[in-house]
Amino acid sequence: MALVPMTYLLQKAGQGGYALGAFNCNNMEIVQSIVTAAEAENSPVIIQASQGAIKYAGLNYIIALGRQAAEGTAVPVVLHLDHGTSFEQVMHCIRFGFSSVMYDGSKLPLEENIAQTRKVVEIARVFGVSVEAELGRIGGTEDDISVSNAEALFTDPAEAEQFVSQTDVDALAVAIGTAHGQYKGDPKLDFERLAEISRRITCPVVLHGSFGVSDESIRKAIELGVRKINIDTNVRQAFVGAMRSALEKDSSEIDPRKVLSPAREAAVEVISEKIRLFGSSGKV
Ligand code: G3H
Ligand code: ZN
Repeated sequence: MALVPMTYLLQKAGQGGYALGAFNCNNMEIVQSIVTAAEAENSPVIIQASQGAIKYAGLNYIIALGRQAAEGTAVPVVLHLDHGTSFEQVMHCIRFGFSSVMYDGSKLPLEENIAQTRKVVEIARVFGVSVEAELGRIGGTEDDISVSNAEALFTDPAEAEQFVSQTDVDALAVAIGTAHGQYKGDPKLDFERLAEISRRITCPVVLHGSFGVSDESIRKAIELGVRKINIDTNVRQAFVGAMRSALEKDSSEIDPRKVLSPAREAAVEVISEKIRLFGSSGKV
């Protein structure tokens, strides 16, 4: 199957009351893990690449991996740009094969974020590419993007309504108390705010920074309208943890395949668990 945009998949998720997992990749093994898990769960899946992943692997490798992932499987696969902060890069991704992009103008003043996002949406529509935007500022660190506690800003529901009606985005990432990276402590989500945002906007809600959020809170967030959940840190932990264990077992090992195979298996495990938690198993 060719890569697909996420619009229709998110609409279906809305009707079925579940969410799609969007898993960050950095290399071939993680892409393979994402597809293996999606196939095992018979679930649509979003493979996404952050700024750090693009720097590390190169945009052309990411596109080739994403395309191969989709073409080699019967489950729907989206290749999504995560936290695109440059208009030029977003255009490049649309032009060269991403089926979905995030334009993250969250650090801009509201009117400017609306104007830039609107511009991206107009162009992406021509190419059948879906667009996610961000409003409010999600705390924590993901690759090059770092937002301190003082800078973090919860999404205002009235602004969200204005933002979505003026940009016509396909999905909106909101700040309701999660943070990127290895969270210290138990994140307290503002469910009232989430409910109010869901009530006021016409597109699906995206949850970033899901690491450390309890299963119960994830289920509640889905009940309240979250349809895309981003997962990076959990996969990193599982992947590198398995590499570490393999090397601890035999520190003289020099065959990368012996270290990367268990890492790939560990990633499949955690991705499958998340897909089940999000309720998208069997939703192909
Ligand atoms: O954009 C990616 C995700 O928001 C990553 O969140 O670090 O909690 O896995 P995470
Ligand atoms: Zn994020």
